[in-house]
Amino acid sequence: SRRVTVRDIAEAKRRGERWPMLTAYDALTARVFDDAGIPVLLVGDSAAMVVYGHDSTIPVTVDDLVPLTAAVARGTSRALVVADLPFGSFQASPEQALASAARLMKEGGAHAVKLEGGHRVAPQVETLVAAGVPVMGHVGLTPQSVNTLGGYRVQGRGEEGARLLADAKELERAGAFSVVLECVPKDLAADITAHLTIPTIGIGAGSGTDAQVLVWQDMAGLSPRVAKFVKEYAKIGDALRDAASAYAEEVVAGTFPDEEHSYA
Ligand code: KIV
Ligand code: NA
Repeated sequence: SRRVTVRDIAEAKRRGERWPMLTAYDALTARVFDDAGIPVLLVGDSAAMVVYGHDSTIPVTVDDLVPLTAAVARGTSRALVVADLPFGSFQASPEQALASAARLMKEGGAHAVKLEGGHRVAPQVETLVAAGVPVMGHVGLTPQSVNTLGGYRVQGRGEEGARLLADAKELERAGAFSVVLECVPKDLAADITAHLTIPTIGIGAGSGTDAQVLVWQDMAGLSPRVAKFVKEYAKIGDALRDAASAYAEEVVAGTFPDEEHSYA
């Protein structure tokens, strides 16, 4: 079957259908998620942590994300592949944002990009959309701004909620095809969802959004620590540790490789 497009995403909201999104950073896991029918895969700048071992998303660059994006695009045939614009690759100007998006699309094969921020990135969103780049917005907890937010905490409580709604509406007005709401109270996320014609994608935002996203290593139980909003659907970390231990034991004991796994 053909690739999912941003038109399919718009159609889903009109039909009132919820959908799942996951992150992906390599070809084999991307293929597994593609086979599972996940319609949208995000090559997130969370790669800074889960792939490259940094403790925030700040250090990751377009150079770092291009090869991961290319691997995800090559590993899939159905999913829409969205790549994050890393910190420092879009804030300076709309021209900078377009140059970075063009690299993720031309070298990485991304079909869309995501960028963090509301009102302040509207000029970037307008320029990208005018150039034919589908843009996913991202408001609420925006990890690239961790140093001004003062940590990874719930956003939009109380008075701040109205500003978040205004930011999301501004992204819609600027032409974004969807918007991620990260770590916001569930009633606010539902309210923003009701006020937008583009789909909202929640992470730590309750069940009132149009879609959901999780970092796959969190969802599958590979991450050592996960936030309250994460549900672990598997214990991949335990399974891998057990596999590595069993392999190690058999190598030391000389029972692997046996006849079955050797050439005569
Ligand atoms: O980088 C990322 O993984 C993300 C999602 C969690 C939305 O931005
Ligand atoms: Na991100």
